[in-house]
Amino acid sequence: MIAHNRPHITKEDRAAVDRVLQSGWIAQGVEVNALEAGFADLLGGGDACAVSSGTAALFLALKALGAGEGWKVAVPTYACSALLNAVHHAGASPVLADVMSDTFCMDPSHRVLEDADIVIAVNTYGAQADLRAIRRTGQKVIEDCCHSLGAVHRPQDEEGDAAIFSFYATKLITGGQGGLVWARGTATAEAVRDYRQFDCRESYQPRFNLQMTDLQAALINSQMRRLKNIRQRRQDIAQTYLSALPDGLTAQSRTIGSESIPYRFVVCAPGRAVRDALKQHLSDAGVGSAVPIERYELLHRYLNLSPQDFPVAERLADVTLSLPVHTGLTDEEIDHVVHTIRSFHP
Ligand SMILES: Cc1ncc(COP(=O)(O)O)c(C=O)c1O
Repeated sequence: MIAHNRPHITKEDRAAVDRVLQSGWIAQGVEVNALEAGFADLLGGGDACAVSSGTAALFLALKALGAGEGWKVAVPTYACSALLNAVHHAGASPVLADVMSDTFCMDPSHRVLEDADIVIAVNTYGAQADLRAIRRTGQKVIEDCCHSLGAVHRPQDEEGDAAIFSFYATKLITGGQGGLVWARGTATAEAVRDYRQFDCRESYQPRFNLQMTDLQAALINSQMRRLKNIRQRRQDIAQTYLSALPDGLTAQSRTIGSESIPYRFVVCAPGRAVRDALKQHLSDAGVGSAVPIERYELLHRYLNLSPQDFPVAERLADVTLSLPVHTGLTDEEIDHVVHTIRSFHP
């Protein structure tokens, strides 16, 4: 079976981890510092703070921006439940927006944006959320880049905002787990750093151990060195699939192109029955695929809100299917996926 997703770990990556093991210092240390400095370079300045997961990064970014009781945080309903967890743990209240049918990113015209204090805008599967249209005056925005590392990033130009990343096992670059908060101004990253540095402090306030280890950072740093190649390979695979799609199937917009990165290649079928038939067709041919977000996972369903208020997300959950686009695929495997897509008749 061709895996839908698989970490692509090279011998250089393994050697990088081995060097840390041999160094005698495996906790947070020089590799984490190097990762943070590398992100500041990649994103054209600012300050970065590496943490234990993308969820921790979201939680800490929210805390650093002041979120707490009485704050409303707008999030897209078509997203990972990590967003809800982070908002709740920060003591704030989530308000949910529907998404756009072409990019799957937050609908900038959604009414909940009007009185949200903070918006978490997700670059869903590598397509960039329209931050300019999303932001209302006086609002803070967290750009969730868990799916868009390696895209031509447009760093937030507003002081006090933040971008967050994940290095979970299925992500574009992985440390098994891991996350990072980046901000243009130093105050946000400093607040995150303060919370993460839970021990040996002169004055006490509640903090938490949300640190990344040097083992994880070394694995991440090693992959970061080939980020451009990873992006190019994914673009090439996605472009090849796009050209092979039979009439009746379309793909998510704006994951391929000069500003994006295809974290996923998501096909849209005309309805649930065709989507399920495509999944079966791929499986019969030995090609793994995944429904990116099932209906029951939609955030408005977790919050018992009416499905009728989120028609686009409801439809996406029914008609979408994600194909393998990871860099561990061989050319033969890609050809096989292409042949299998071509032989599907919706
Ligand atoms: C858009 C998005 N944000 C945040 C997260 C949380 O990241 P992590 O799994 O590293 O906690 C995920 C997880 O998959 C995600 O998809």
